[in-house]
Amino acid sequence: MCRTALLLLLPVTSLARLLPSEYRLSDFNHTLGSVDCPCDDVSLCEVLSNEVSTELFGFGSSNYASGPGFDWSAMTTIAWGEGTDLVCKAHSEGVRVIAAASPPLTDNQTAIDEFIQETIKSMQQNFYDGITFDWESPVDSPDDPLNTYYLDVVSQTTAALKSINPNYQVSLCAAWSPFGIDGRWYDYIGLANAVDFLYVMCYDVRSQIFDQCVASANSPINLCRKGIEEFNAAGIPNDKLVLGMPWYGYRYECVNDVFDPKASKTCEIAQVPFRGVNCSDAAGSEIAYGSIRNIVRSYDAEVFRDGYMNVPFFNYVDEGSGKIYQIWYDDAESLQGHYDFVRENGLRGAGPYRFDQVDLDSDDGVEETKEMFDALKTAAN
Ligand SMILES: *[C@@H]1O[C@H](CO)[C@@H](O)[C@H](O)[C@H]1NC(C)=O
Ligand SMILES: *[C@@H]1O[C@H](CO)[C@@H](O)[C@H](O)[C@H]1NC(C)=O
Ligand SMILES: *[C@@H]1O[C@H](CO)[C@@H](O)[C@H](O)[C@H]1NC(C)=O
Repeated sequence: MCRTALLLLLPVTSLARLLPSEYRLSDFNHTLGSVDCPCDDVSLCEVLSNEVSTELFGFGSSNYASGPGFDWSAMTTIAWGEGTDLVCKAHSEGVRVIAAASPPLTDNQTAIDEFIQETIKSMQQNFYDGITFDWESPVDSPDDPLNTYYLDVVSQTTAALKSINPNYQVSLCAAWSPFGIDGRWYDYIGLANAVDFLYVMCYDVRSQIFDQCVASANSPINLCRKGIEEFNAAGIPNDKLVLGMPWYGYRYECVNDVFDPKASKTCEIAQVPFRGVNCSDAAGSEIAYGSIRNIVRSYDAEVFRDGYMNVPFFNYVDEGSGKIYQIWYDDAESLQGHYDFVRENGLRGAGPYRFDQVDLDSDDGVEETKEMFDALKTAAN
């Protein structure tokens, strides 16, 4: 705890030293960095300051402008949003747009200062509302120096942004459990204290498969619940946690000796190792929810639903290759358990990776997109 307190104090002094005077603003400056506000209404370039009681926080919006179905009332923050058109539109709807941050992990303060200055410049020139950190590499142990470097740069960057404008939002992507998922033994308590909230990525939970090497669900609610409880047990309260869930699924090739695509439910998959574990979801490939539903329709596939997890899956034989595939995904019904959990336990919020993994080009796709957004809204109180 001593170390954390010390780190939180450091940025204030170093900031005064490093921050160029043009960035030290009390009020918003529309022509900062000589980039003019591109929105018709220049007030739309300001960092949003509206408070939200439940974050509906997700990634991506590349197709936000196509078709009906993209529901602005079902989003509060779009991470990795791109383009000033998006910023103008999102801000007019009261939705934040935030950028990715990839900091150097080092004790070289000059490199850290440079990163922070670049980040601030990018915030101001693109009219972003904040950033999200998403480092996912393994560390040797909780004592690995990389953990100290990560916490340090996250703390300093957050302090710098908040000193310019307290409305900048800073989040950090966390594994689905704090306990060494994929070797990510990070200092989650320090990190949670250093940012506004953690986005807990409750997906790819089969990144390391320790039991039967078969296809299964990407985001089973029971595991998400266990992960959140483990964050709580580690000392991180629910109002610091946004539950992330997938709007994509996995397609696995079934390698069973005998498999009846019309009836078989257990799909054995090839052993593809990940970080020291011989079986993983790397045997499959990620497919967007909208595309998966189109596969269901074009193959007229029968969708099963696992009775324990309430998660849909189906088999089909690929026309081109003749290979047998099983696809596991999440839909509005399977994700309802996640949203209920978030609402009933007062989590900071919920939201998908990614908002734009929906089909807005067909009537069926638009209808299913609406179901996905409508379900997401029920996470809010
Ligand atoms: C905003 O910043 C620009 C560039 O630094 C400067 O020329 C301009 O006077 C500033 N505007 C206000 C209102 O402070
Ligand atoms: C520290 O980082 C700066 C900026 O990236 C670099 O120029 C310098 O060589 C680094 N110092 C050391 C000791 O690596
Ligand atoms: C993983 O696979 C390799 C190669 O087949 C094998 O040598 C090793 O024993 C396996 N490890 C475990 C833990 O099963």
